[in-house]
Amino acid sequence: MKRLFILSATLFLLLSLSYCGTARRGVPMFAPLSTENPAVAQGEVVYMEYCQKCHPGGTAGLAPAINNKPLPGFLMRFQIRNGVGIMPAFKENVISDGELDDLVAYLKALKKAKREEG
Ligand code: HEC
Repeated sequence: MKRLFILSATLFLLLSLSYCGTARRGVPMFAPLSTENPAVAQGEVVYMEYCQKCHPGGTAGLAPAINNKPLPGFLMRFQIRNGVGIMPAFKENVISDGELDDLVAYLKALKKAKREEG
């Protein structure tokens, strides 16, 4: 009986530790992207400036991960322009249409990198 208690206490501890551990910060968990495509490289600059702080490397931080789900380009554009929930909106005076195109190219590359990584 006592063993069972110790076992379940250990399990609980392990589970809660691994849960807390999901928000690892400061460690890059993503492979650097190949930036042969200039739009992707340009999009990365925009991303680092406006999105990285909440969506670090496309993974979850203050905000949900955005590299792990099939978000179509038009939806991402809509969310960036209009905001969702507590995510702020980024209008044309902040992110121009050209920058938005690059940003979406970068987000697609991020997602593709995630897929290839398995
Ligand atoms: C202040 C923090 C913050 C910033 C900055 C931010 N986001 Fe978000 N983002 C969020 C939050 C929070 C959500 C979840 C919104 C919700 O569902 O309530 C979100 C959701 C999203 C989603 C939808 C994810 C889903 O699960 O459907 C996309 C795509 C996205 N953000 C892209 C971006 C991009 C691109 C940028 C940079 C232009 C950006 N975000 C900047 C906080 C942020």
